Amino acid sequence: MRNVLITGGAGFIGSNFVYYLLGVEPGANLVTLDALTYAGSLENLRDLPDVGRHAFVQGDICDQPLVEDVIRSRQIDTIVHFAAETHVDRSIYGPGQFVRTNVLGTFSLLEAARKVWMEEQQLGDATSQQVRFHHVSTDEVYGSLGPQEPPFTETNLYAPSSPYAASKAASDHLVRAYGHTYGLPYTITNCSNNYGPYQFPEKLIPLMISNALEGRPLPVYGDGGQIRDWLYVEDHCDAIWRVLRHANPGETYNIGGGNQPTNLSVVQTLCEILDECRPDAPFTPHRSLVIFVADRPGHDRRYAMDITKIQRDLGWQPRHTLVAGLRKTVEWYLAHAQWVEAIRKEQDYQGWLVRNYNQR
Ligand code: NAD
Ligand code: TYD
Repeated sequence: MRNVLITGGAGFIGSNFVYYLLGVEPGANLVTLDALTYAGSLENLRDLPDVGRHAFVQGDICDQPLVEDVIRSRQIDTIVHFAAETHVDRSIYGPGQFVRTNVLGTFSLLEAARKVWMEEQQLGDATSQQVRFHHVSTDEVYGSLGPQEPPFTETNLYAPSSPYAASKAASDHLVRAYGHTYGLPYTITNCSNNYGPYQFPEKLIPLMISNALEGRPLPVYGDGGQIRDWLYVEDHCDAIWRVLRHANPGETYNIGGGNQPTNLSVVQTLCEILDECRPDAPFTPHRSLVIFVADRPGHDRRYAMDITKIQRDLGWQPRHTLVAGLRKTVEWYLAHAQWVEAIRKEQDYQGWLVRNYNQR
């Protein structure tokens, strides 16, 4: 791992991964390629500890000549692919952008990597033997679990339900096909719901924190009984790093936090933490702000990940309990009020709130 290309490195998990990798790989140079959509921001990379080892390229992963140029000119040996459209609710309103970025964008990256790395192999370049394409994916490709079903393992069949999940499933299939057909050395991780610093405040946890701080309603979809397996983002970064370092090409690993709270209980725990942190807020107890709103169409009821394989092969397991991770997250959002405010003021964000919540 000498020259690492991180797509989507200005987004939530990607930026956390940039910080993480700079810390654990002192010999690596990093390049972030990001289109800076509504979900990405250079603000997320403002506090990098070692700016000299990080370069930023603004660009679209669908722009194959650009990607080829970056891989060639920067002698990239490792690609960690985060860039995607990621919000299920947005995928319901506008699936086209999800197919473009998640399916065609992954295809463009795979083509660029294949072209440059295979050309180099033919020229006998030694570094091209040690390349890796790592694809970051989601538990949502497996569909929804019944209440008594065991957690997803790596051999579960794909059964995606939302346009987002279907586009990620398609991208996983493409990555495997490139490994199988062209011998592209790849790994895939399928991870459960992440939370933590720099998460865009339209996703459940940061939305609830920032709404609660402003005394706005906390909109829980349906009956709030849906179950997710939550993982603190730093633990996800650690898992990806171990896969890059130690996993054999062609392997897939499931990653998850090992907890299965309902959405309502996550929101209530956040409210309790906020009551402790802000006892004098006029809206204490914060749980009085919870409202139930119309459910998401096709809402998956339950996800849960079996992490036996990554525990056994790579010795990884989550270091944060859900309560500890949520506490750290609330503290981060309290300490980064300006970051949140800048996003929440934007027209796109305000438009999203109107579109998604006003008619519910
Ligand atoms: P995010 O929405 O916060 O960030 C996505 C980033 O990709 C943004 O910086 C955006 O500007 C960039 N991007 C979007 N389209 C692009 C394009 N065409 N070209 C270049 N850059 C583009 O997403 P996230 O939550 O950080 O998720 C990152 C990855 O992890 C995604 O692939 C997602 O499917 C996967 N994942 C996310 C979670 C989760 O809970 N957030 C869980 C499992 C897997
Ligand atoms: P989200 O953060 O959008 O992640 P995903 O849909 O990928 O799991 O949502 C997490 C859960 O929270 C999901 O079950 C939908 C629910 N949810 C709400 O109840 N209210 C909200 O306002 C949002 C954004 C999500």
